[in-house]
Amino acid sequence: ALSAGDEALVRALWRKMGSNVGVYTTEALERIVLAFPSTRIYFAPLDLSPGSMQLRAHGKKVAAALSVALGHLDDLPDALSALSDLHTRQLRVDPTSFQLLGHCLLLTLARHYPGDFSPAMHRALHRFLTHVAWALASPCG
Ligand code: HEM
Repeated sequence: ALSAGDEALVRALWRKMGSNVGVYTTEALERIVLAFPSTRIYFAPLDLSPGSMQLRAHGKKVAAALSVALGHLDDLPDALSALSDLHTRQLRVDPTSFQLLGHCLLLTLARHYPGDFSPAMHRALHRFLTHVAWALASPCG
């Protein structure tokens, strides 16, 4: 679980990013489809070229979902149940892909916020993103 300290670190970075969370989630999406081409299959209908409008629109949705998740750390499976259903049952995204996206976002944030990226911040973000990945990959009910 995330400790109070982990949570405080993630929240502080989220505040710092402000309205730019979607910029970084979009970069993470650009990275996942380039670095892990097997993930492209899920996005088949979308234009996956870097900077595409569709990737940016999708990045914003992922960012909004992560912000919701940050407000629901105590009941993540409930808060993300509709999204989990969409990803596992409808889109059939395999569980490792959620971890890969978390990995891509971690790298993206480390590049854009090098001064904030202490080992403690690394751990806090890793735990947060692992929680989200787990909640998305395990549909409840
Ligand atoms: C759609 C969030 C990971 C593939 C979405 C939507 C959200 C979202 C909010 C839009 C749902 C809607 O329109 O109702 C997230 C979050 C993730 C994550 C928070 C992990 C942190 C992934 C991964 C993949 C994936 C790893 C595949 C490798 C898709 C696809 C759609 C989608 C294909 C539908 C896109 C479209 O046709 O518009 N996701 N997602 N997602 N997600 Fe994810």
